[in-house]
Amino acid sequence: MSEIKKDLALFSRLAEYILETEEKKPVAERLQPEEAFQKANLTLENNPVNEEALTEDLKEIIKYTPKTSSKKFFNQLFGGRSSKAFLGDLLALMLNNSMYTYKAGGILVALENEIFKSSLKLAGLPQSGDGIMVPGGSMANLMALLIARVRADADIKNKGRGKSLTAYTSEDAHYSNLKNMGFAGAGEENLRKIKTDDDGRMDPQALQVAIREDIKNGKRPFLVIATAGTTVCGAFDPIDEIADICEKHTLHLHVDGAYCGCVIFSEQLNHMAKGLHRADTFCYNAHKVLGAPQNCSVMLSRNPEWLRSSFNSTADYLFQTDGDDFNPGIKSMQCGRRNDALKLWTLWKSKGTSGLGKIVEERYELSDYARHYIKNHKDYTLYGPDHSLSVCFNYKNQDPAALCEKLYVEEQLMVGHGSFKGDRFIRLVIVNPNHTKNEIDGFFQTLEKCSLDTSI
Ligand SMILES: Cc1ncc(COP(=O)(O)O)c(C=O)c1O
Repeated sequence: MSEIKKDLALFSRLAEYILETEEKKPVAERLQPEEAFQKANLTLENNPVNEEALTEDLKEIIKYTPKTSSKKFFNQLFGGRSSKAFLGDLLALMLNNSMYTYKAGGILVALENEIFKSSLKLAGLPQSGDGIMVPGGSMANLMALLIARVRADADIKNKGRGKSLTAYTSEDAHYSNLKNMGFAGAGEENLRKIKTDDDGRMDPQALQVAIREDIKNGKRPFLVIATAGTTVCGAFDPIDEIADICEKHTLHLHVDGAYCGCVIFSEQLNHMAKGLHRADTFCYNAHKVLGAPQNCSVMLSRNPEWLRSSFNSTADYLFQTDGDDFNPGIKSMQCGRRNDALKLWTLWKSKGTSGLGKIVEERYELSDYARHYIKNHKDYTLYGPDHSLSVCFNYKNQDPAALCEKLYVEEQLMVGHGSFKGDRFIRLVIVNPNHTKNEIDGFFQTLEKCSLDTSI
């Protein structure tokens, strides 16, 4: 048997082992980082190990790796496994293409373009737009920043430096926006964090005031980043009102939908991103609410030229055939680029747009179910917006950080905590496509059993 066939058979056995472990021990033992080295044979040595020893090492690694696809994982904005997306990603791995050229990516380039075309339509953006798959929402936000800067200052790409440009996002927006300003050389201090209301939505009036103030002080506003689903509370900024302001001052409007931008798949929920059709760029992560394997981020641009003018560069050794429309490398930050499209395409094709919409709708229904439980139990305090995938609460006034840690150390479940407007709370994230009411009921039962002896 060829080596790859043997390894595929080994993969099947290990995959089986992962599924069993997820069932039997859904929360892996909490190891201190230093302990990890003692638990498995991680040292890389000069001599090879035999197949049996390698299998045992891999099993140990599996045993101690957090089980993000188990039903007890509520910790981050991803989790679970959309099986058809997983299938698509396994095929992508096996095919191992790089998405810079048609020559290397072939039909996958057309498949990726189909994702952009269909996503643009759902977002209400023109069909003449374009897109690119990127390794995550942070990277999409960086690309939006770079596009907006080239739009505001065409010389920046060739000559460097540039004008004193200011960008705007809400105080609850993702931290990547601040980082991006720093390492794009735009300066962290040139990002204005606009205050949010009690539901975590950017205040458009405060945005207007900040822009006017900057103009008065000789600054040059260039970009507003609205969020469709803030990281902690899952709040949606009022995109329509923000778009009015962007239009008035000719600012680039990026909508960061990394967390909840998938509402575009649901006719019932897409009103939450009302005004999205006015965005200049928009991104969503299929590895969050849709349960595709990481990473699976779609970045869309209203104008195809913006991607090209910001990221194109000549590479005679690479772009040799088929013209710009079929060589996505000319609109990408990367050179070699993993095929992240096939997993989303496989999922989308197998479920249809309506099926993807249903996944999103069911996550929202489940989060309402959890919120309903909290509201009807006097030992709980609820925080954050009323209709959101982030269910933020405290139990019996107990320290949320200590309670989360206890649940983890006792291998009960994994959940994290966050803060909003001075309150710290447990953040139950409902994104796992395999969760049902049973897992939510189980979550509360486990939490109540594990409760601490003391209150804060
Ligand atoms: C609103 C928002 N934007 C961007 C990101 C970053 O996405 P990624 O982790 O894919 O880089 C996140 C991640 O949670 C997010 O919540």
